[in-house]
Amino acid sequence: MNMKPTEWRADAPYDALPRLPPAIDQIETRAVLKACISARAALGELRQAGELIPNQSMLISLLPMLEARASSEIENIVTTTDRLFQHAYQPETNADPATKEALRYSRALFQGYQSLHDRPLTTRTLEELCSTIKGVDMSIRRTPGTALVNDQTGRIVYTPPEGEAHLRGLLANWETFINTPNDLDPVVRMAVAHYQLEAIHPFTDGNGRTGRIVNSLILIQDGLLTLPILYLSRYIIRNKSEYYRLLQAVTSEGAWEDWVLYMVRGIEDTAIWTTAKIGAMRQLMEQTAEHVRTLLPKIYRHELISLIFERPYCRIADLMERGLAKRQTASVYLKALVDIGVLEEVSVGKEKLFLNPRLMSLLQYETHDFPPFEGR
Ligand SMILES: Nc1ncnc2c1ncn2[C@@H]1O[C@H](COP(=O)(O)OP(=O)(O)OP(=O)(O)O)[C@@H](O)[C@H]1O
Ligand SMILES: [Mg+2]
Repeated sequence: MNMKPTEWRADAPYDALPRLPPAIDQIETRAVLKACISARAALGELRQAGELIPNQSMLISLLPMLEARASSEIENIVTTTDRLFQHAYQPETNADPATKEALRYSRALFQGYQSLHDRPLTTRTLEELCSTIKGVDMSIRRTPGTALVNDQTGRIVYTPPEGEAHLRGLLANWETFINTPNDLDPVVRMAVAHYQLEAIHPFTDGNGRTGRIVNSLILIQDGLLTLPILYLSRYIIRNKSEYYRLLQAVTSEGAWEDWVLYMVRGIEDTAIWTTAKIGAMRQLMEQTAEHVRTLLPKIYRHELISLIFERPYCRIADLMERGLAKRQTASVYLKALVDIGVLEEVSVGKEKLFLNPRLMSLLQYETHDFPPFEGR
């Protein structure tokens, strides 16, 4: 049964936003608990796939980039997976603004992940994440005037609470909720925390993206995942109008169950897809290694294969940086890999990059298949 909160109007600051936790019978319904069982199983498999893979740095360099692209696209910051990887790892890049912004998102995700080694998730973490995403210092809103507007109609759909002290109080309650053990299933807890963070809307901008990074971090903090590899924004972007509608319905109708179900199903869906993707990446890497070992036994090195799987667009300088070869030899290695059909040489601006095309298509497309190597 839904309980309609009183005192809510779309165009007035929602200062009466209730503190956490919601009444347990509103969130852990039978349907939710049932959905949690399969979501937890799917997450368990993803966690294992991440832990068992020999080359974890491959996952850490690739999957957060997919999340960054999709999560930024929810905000209409549109770039391509191709462009992201072409410009990644370059301190000075002449990338377009959307690509730069999405790269900042991936950096924020990684920073947040690392911060969990030292301290729990707090309001401070939120400020750091949002500042990295936006590329300017962001702190909790001090001034009124933030409102969520429907893109099509221009009408205000939600006005978050106001007053820095009030916002900080709500965030302190949010912190306690995510950092203190309770009886809720961790995936339910994540869903509840995401709604609350978006409803508090602590920043003038970047709240959606900060909140979506936090989703991964909560699951890691609760031990359901060890790496930041859940690509939940893939699901959110495919079900975007539901995402907005269901967040809104918690506020306007207390419709917690629908919201939590949406998120729990999203976690399951994403975890299954990501596990399959990791399996395909792993297979591709094994087949590539074998192909190179057979045709280029003098050049084959495990570290070289690792590198072209961590950087789908690779540079001669990358090989030098890793001590794999000096410039001249590095160039010979990469060209040899082009000759046997493992890499492709492409020009991006003034630069020559070496693309791992099979890996790139695994990253870009839904399918988990890749074309075989010649002569296999
Ligand atoms: N009715 C609503 N109530 C609470 N939060 C909402 C509602 N509708 C949308 N949101 C959240 O607000 C976010 C948008 O806020 P904001 O523009 O600050 O974030 P962003 O990261 O810049 O954008 P985006 O989330 O669109 O990428 C949405 O992504 C969603 O998470
Ligand atoms: Mg925005």
